[in-house]
Amino acid sequence: MDLDAALGLIAEIPDFPEPGVLFRDLSPLFASADGFKAVTDALAATVEPDVELLAAVEARGFMLAAAVGYARGLGVVLVRKPGKLPSVAGRVEYALEYGTASLELPAGVVAPGSRVAVVDDVLATGGTVDAACRLLEEAGASVSGISVVLELAGLDGRAVLAGRKVSALQAA
Ligand code: PRP
Ligand code: HPA
Repeated sequence: MDLDAALGLIAEIPDFPEPGVLFRDLSPLFASADGFKAVTDALAATVEPDVELLAAVEARGFMLAAAVGYARGLGVVLVRKPGKLPSVAGRVEYALEYGTASLELPAGVVAPGSRVAVVDDVLATGGTVDAACRLLEEAGASVSGISVVLELAGLDGRAVLAGRKVSALQAA
């Protein structure tokens, strides 16, 4: 399956999770063997050659980063929602498109000076990925880029991530 066909599997759901929000549902894409492979290969190609570790944002970023990590021979650090990790290197609060949230980084996993790429499914307001980048940088890593399947361009997440390399397979 080519990348355009794979991205065409993303469904648009009006008024979820709130009235007025057009939710892009990647579930049909993730469930398609050919679609998932096409997207994994395309995301893997966006990761810089000198990257040493992938950072995956909970929850949908986990499966994408795992697949990209396998394709590229890289390990994955899980950037988690609060209360999941026994020992944290840091915690950052941030605003979502709808509501607020926090992310935590496990202690002792990210080596200072390491080059890390962040992987997630959707870039909306940019708050989530920005929080992940700040956590990684607080741990002494350098963020070499951000790779997402879908960018909701109208929410201007790139402005929040100004100065960072953002690779999106599709803008909507
Ligand atoms: C979603 C999505 C991104 C984030 C994007 O995560 O997977 O991580 O929102 O939004 P932002 O750019 O406005 O911050 P969410 O926590 O809603 O769901 P998930 O746990 O199912 O991945
Ligand atoms: N789809 C999936 N995740 C999201 C969206 C969306 O439309 N907006 C913010 N996170």
